[in-house]
Amino acid sequence: MKKIIKELNIYQPHSARIIKIHPQIQGHRLFLVKFEDDKISRNFTYKPGQFMELTVFGSGEAPFSLSSSPTRPGIIEFCIRQTGKVTDSLFRLSPNSLIGIRGPYGNGFPIEKLENNDLLIVAGGLGMAPLRSLLRYVLDSRERFGEVTLIYGGRNPDDMLFKYELLDLLDSPEMNCLLSVDRDDSGTWPACIGPVTALFDRIKVEARSTYAAICGPPIMYKYVLEKLFERNFSYDRILMSLERHMKCGVGKCGHCAIGYKYICMDGPIFTYQEALDLPEAV
Ligand SMILES: Cc1cc2nc3c(=O)[nH]c(=O)nc-3n(C[C@H](O)[C@H](O)[C@H](O)COP(=O)(O)OP(=O)(O)OC[C@H]3O[C@@H](n4cnc5c(N)ncnc54)[C@H](O)[C@@H]3O)c2cc1C
Ligand code: FES
Repeated sequence: MKKIIKELNIYQPHSARIIKIHPQIQGHRLFLVKFEDDKISRNFTYKPGQFMELTVFGSGEAPFSLSSSPTRPGIIEFCIRQTGKVTDSLFRLSPNSLIGIRGPYGNGFPIEKLENNDLLIVAGGLGMAPLRSLLRYVLDSRERFGEVTLIYGGRNPDDMLFKYELLDLLDSPEMNCLLSVDRDDSGTWPACIGPVTALFDRIKVEARSTYAAICGPPIMYKYVLEKLFERNFSYDRILMSLERHMKCGVGKCGHCAIGYKYICMDGPIFTYQEALDLPEAV
């Protein structure tokens, strides 16, 4: 009887252990986490672009995108910015601490649609967190996708998430990796210097056979969308990850609702065409 009640409680998190914590840029850390129950760990899968509700016991829970890829099962990763109650408590934990996780939630990127197409990934700031999952997925299943291009920009080299991992991709034959910083006082940055939008002038993409996946701060969308429209991208080939304050993550509390859509269930990934019906979210 006890087991049945547990299975019916959709809010019950699973126990998970923090395996490692990698410092990222100022105020951001990458948490490597593993389910305590081996069976759950083995059977757990997800799509790039999905998120989990993460609980710090005694503080509360909040949604975070999966930054790892299901192509590398076992350990799941979250890239987290310290912003408030839950993340403050999370940043006080150390490896081996127990946390709770439930999910995965949300629609994720439509991987089946993306297959056999070219892919243009455009990230700004923390938008790299969900897009790193997509990038890893695509690189791990390289033969199923066409040309892959990443555009990612930051204010300076110390502002780039996953910096060394991405710098390693600069010369990769597998993809076209374009990284840019607004300024580099150290004079050691090996990639581009200038506004991230300038990187668009360096890429060749065929709008009819390319999907664009975008995630970043709201201001970035305006400029990136302009660049994509200049290249005649159709609205249904532009995929955007939209964030909204969430509570339950499972379509029950109504916290994330815009009109008749629940961002936690219908999103967080929307085509630009769909986002036109969600003006508050863009
Ligand atoms: C689908 C999704 C994926 C996400 N992925 C990531 C991720 O990968 N990494 C990451 O770092 N963050 C991510 N976030 C954001 C993260 O969930 C929030 O920053 C979360 O609020 C952090 O919890 P907290 O208790 O630490 O901060 P909070 O105490 O919730 O405060 C965070 C900020 O939000 C403001 N705020 C809180 N509640 C509200 C409200 N109801 N209305 C308006 N403003 C409010 C606060 O003033 C503060 O500025 C994601 C959010 C969503 C919805
Ligand atoms: S967060 Fe509760 S309905 Fe979406």
